[in-house]
Amino acid sequence: MSRLLVSTPPTAEKGTTGSVEVMVAEDLWKVYRLGKIDYPALRGVSFSVRRGEYIAIVGPSGSGKSTLLNIMGALDRPTKGRMMIDGIEISRLNDRRLAELRNRKLGFVFQNFNLLSYMSAAENVETPLIASGVPPEERRRVAYELLEMVGLKGFERNRPTMLSGGQQQRVALARALANSPQIILADEPTGNLDSKSSREIIELLRRLNREKGVTIIMVTHNFELTSYCDRIWFFRDGRIEREEKRDAGQAI
Ligand SMILES: Nc1ncnc2c1ncn2[C@@H]1O[C@H](COP(=O)(O)OP(=O)(O)OP(=O)(O)O)[C@@H](O)[C@H]1O
Ligand SMILES: [Mg+2]
Repeated sequence: MSRLLVSTPPTAEKGTTGSVEVMVAEDLWKVYRLGKIDYPALRGVSFSVRRGEYIAIVGPSGSGKSTLLNIMGALDRPTKGRMMIDGIEISRLNDRRLAELRNRKLGFVFQNFNLLSYMSAAENVETPLIASGVPPEERRRVAYELLEMVGLKGFERNRPTMLSGGQQQRVALARALANSPQIILADEPTGNLDSKSSREIIELLRRLNREKGVTIIMVTHNFELTSYCDRIWFFRDGRIEREEKRDAGQAI
């Protein structure tokens, strides 16, 4: 169990505003210009997410799920509308401040793992800590702890090619957790995994949410994997068409 995670539970941490609303979106639009045609990938999305919520986004291919997640993760800016992360309006920030915000508050998990192939599992997990200025020995210690937490003790020196897909995604999850983020954004985190590895990743996300109070936003095609979520947003044509609320702990 990571000492970092245990010592600073995100639920106890006050955000910039001290608000329980950790993400607020107001009328988000994202318009892509394709030749001479403007294509709105997001068409007026509004929501608020409370600290410690677990939200799933489901919907057809091309409906704008990744576009939304990238804006929620400050990887992209909306064409119009406001996206607030922990009380900070992201379009007001320059690129350096955006990168800082991402590094401090957010952890990302992607469908294709996005690990650096020339680095070991431990080195991959350490990368966000380099940006935070954590000294090398401390980085290594945290990386080993996190790899143990995701069940990869003994695999610290393996390069990604020497790991299964499920193991690679667990490395990616450990990396996402390196800076003890308040929020994890996961885009199809099980999209390239078999059903057993998928369940393991979902179980890890559930534990992070329930035991550490980490807010989780997860895009998935697989409705079965939404059983631990508090809310499901059904996305269509660049909008949240419908929301379904779940009682805590209710399984499908
Ligand atoms: N960089 C881009 N330039 C132009 N159009 C884009 C760009 N990124 C996404 N789009 C378009 O925006 C729409 C939404 O794309 P997005 O990737 O958000 O969909 P998605 O719901 O994540 O789909 P999938 O389930 O296939 O991942 C699509 O029509 C896509 O073609
Ligand atoms: Mg997508």
